[in-house]
Amino acid sequence: METVQVQLPSHTIAPYSVRVGAGQLGEIGPTLRTDLDARTCVIITDSNVAPLYLARTAASLEGVDIRVLAAQFAAGEAAKNLRTVGELYDNLLPRRLDRNAVIIALGGGVAGDLAGFIAATLLRGLPFVQAPTTLLAAVDASVGGKVGIDHAAGKNLIGAFHQPRLVITDLATFKTLPRREIACGLAECVKHAFIRDGALLSFIETRLDSLISCDPVTMEKLVAWNVQIKAEIVEMDPYEKNQRAWLNFGHTFGHALETVGQYHALQHGEAVALGMVAAARLSEKRLGLNSAITARLIALLDRIGLPTRLPGLDAGAIFNAMKTDKKNRDGALRLVLLADIARPEIISDVPAEQVFQAIESLNVTETATGH
Ligand code: NAD
Ligand code: GLY
Repeated sequence: METVQVQLPSHTIAPYSVRVGAGQLGEIGPTLRTDLDARTCVIITDSNVAPLYLARTAASLEGVDIRVLAAQFAAGEAAKNLRTVGELYDNLLPRRLDRNAVIIALGGGVAGDLAGFIAATLLRGLPFVQAPTTLLAAVDASVGGKVGIDHAAGKNLIGAFHQPRLVITDLATFKTLPRREIACGLAECVKHAFIRDGALLSFIETRLDSLISCDPVTMEKLVAWNVQIKAEIVEMDPYEKNQRAWLNFGHTFGHALETVGQYHALQHGEAVALGMVAAARLSEKRLGLNSAITARLIALLDRIGLPTRLPGLDAGAIFNAMKTDKKNRDGALRLVLLADIARPEIISDVPAEQVFQAIESLNVTETATGH
């Protein structure tokens, strides 16, 4: 088991641990009893994860006399909205919770963002534990306290910063993840590597087969390494005034692709992969990024099985959707671009024409690229 500590620069936010290891869900009851003195827990999970891991999680909690309530929502990004939040409030409020009740997000990033939003708002804030069961949630969404929901106007536009009290990642849950979800998680790892750590990039490139087959030792190393990178950036800038925006490399394009697809067409990690390709191409023009680095990014994403082109895309609709991004200031797009590996820059004066060309560069067929 590996543990990473997250220590934010605030006296009002408690430091927390991220525990990463196989079999951790079986320990969740004793851990929450000891670390948080939990007496009542509310497990919020989705319709795919509930049949797989809810009983095991509840049994561990009940085994140490913690009262367990559970609430489910329909799996998928399309449920990450105010309607589902309303249904969860309707479900939970009559069950007379008090402010000591601990909300547990059991599932992927959608469960984490939704349950975290419930925890941030119900009774003006409840303690919150993340139990991520996707690679993407383990390496990114479960750490750093961003919680929230989507709106028809754009992705993640409603939300809060509400840090978890603990993150418990049971790597054994990855065994049931579809191959596509492993690839999506690897997209965020590739993002961390490109914005921060060339050694992580080489690790992913050389160990890719072991990662895709979820080899336990390699996976534990990958998750702990990525959590460490995310923790360092969140510690520098918890409220995304500056450096935390680096974590959005590929996301301004990616979120727009998700919005235009109405959260059905692409998984988050797939949209991020496409977004990183567009951002790298724009980085070549704007910051002189070496085109060999873009080629290295595309080669790795291709090997992972992530999309790197989107024939037939509607560049105008995607460009319009980018205008609702939360990083924008005074109507100007702010984009995270790369001068080199581990040299991200936040740029706000990119001409619309160049952004449009970067989107349009994804609109190629296989034959046209020679892949
Ligand atoms: P997800 O939660 O939809 O999970 C993907 C799919 O895998 C779902 O169908 C889910 O039911 C299923 N699943 C989950 N665990 C499983 C398991 N162990 N076995 C089998 N199936 C399982 O999506 P995700 O990719 O985990 O997360 C994407 C979401 O995370 C997006 O909404 C994104 O905006 C958000 N996100 C948030 C942050 C943050 O900092 N808050 C960071 C990155 C991403
Ligand atoms: N996923 C981006 C962030 O947490 O800031």
